[in-house]
Amino acid sequence: MTGEPRLGDVFGELLRDAYAVHTGIGPRPLVGGRLPRPVIEIIERDDGLVNGAPAAHYLDGPEHWQPYDHRAVDRTRGATLDVGVGGGRIALVLQERGVPVTGLDTSPGALRVSRHRGVRDLVLGTVDEHVADGRRYDTFLLLGNNLGLIEGRERAPAFLAALAALARPGAQVIAHGTDPYGTTDPVHTGYHEWNRQRGRLGGQLRLRLRYRELGTEWFDYLVCSAEELAELVRGTPWRLTDVDDRDAPYYLATLRLAGPGGR
Ligand SMILES: C[S@@+](CC[C@H](N)C(=O)[O-])C[C@H]1O[C@@H](n2cnc3c(N)ncnc32)[C@H](O)[C@@H]1O
Repeated sequence: MTGEPRLGDVFGELLRDAYAVHTGIGPRPLVGGRLPRPVIEIIERDDGLVNGAPAAHYLDGPEHWQPYDHRAVDRTRGATLDVGVGGGRIALVLQERGVPVTGLDTSPGALRVSRHRGVRDLVLGTVDEHVADGRRYDTFLLLGNNLGLIEGRERAPAFLAALAALARPGAQVIAHGTDPYGTTDPVHTGYHEWNRQRGRLGGQLRLRLRYRELGTEWFDYLVCSAEELAELVRGTPWRLTDVDDRDAPYYLATLRLAGPGGR
């Protein structure tokens, strides 16, 4: 016993329990063996900030979605890769609409929940690993704030190159991001400043997820402004063609593959 969490599939365990609460399938988490225990994702930041977020929304049907999720789905066309499919809430709706969708995730437990809920085409791994499978797509979805997966200045070129390697001519990326800089909370503005001092983007979060006795490794997750995203996309095979910020500070960024067919 070290007091440190055991490394494990935090997201998968969390989703399994949220799914059990949602459906009554499988053992539900209980307090004292009797009362329902809420399923909360614990998010630790490297300045010591700890936040909790209820996991139930990862299973939400479209009636509970935010407006930008609907607009993202409406813009989806062709063979689609849902990057970080989670509990499959987006993929299920695309399937119903007849859109050929593949769900990609690094969490075996998330894929189990997605499969159980009816998502038919699921792949375990990262975008980099998926390139070798030879499958190609017209739309890439990074929803549920998953623009964060581009991590920061170091990872962004390789991440966007992997998406380009998976892309058909004319492909698009639809990514949900959040502009972090509207806040006046000194806990956050101080963190942004500390990040800049150590050569990182202000909203380049260094996080660890916890659930019960499990934790993830520390990882970078980028929360950036549209201007910072434009800077990160410059020099890659993609062009930032649209930023829909009707629900600011949340936005949907559309990237298009540059070059023949991508104009
Ligand atoms: C914030 S959740 C979003 C889930 C889903 N897109 C939604 O909107 O409900 C992030 C998901 O991305 C997955 N994930 C994390 N890192 C990943 C990576 N490098 N490649 C693919 N999926 C990843 C997690 O396991 C989790 O299912």
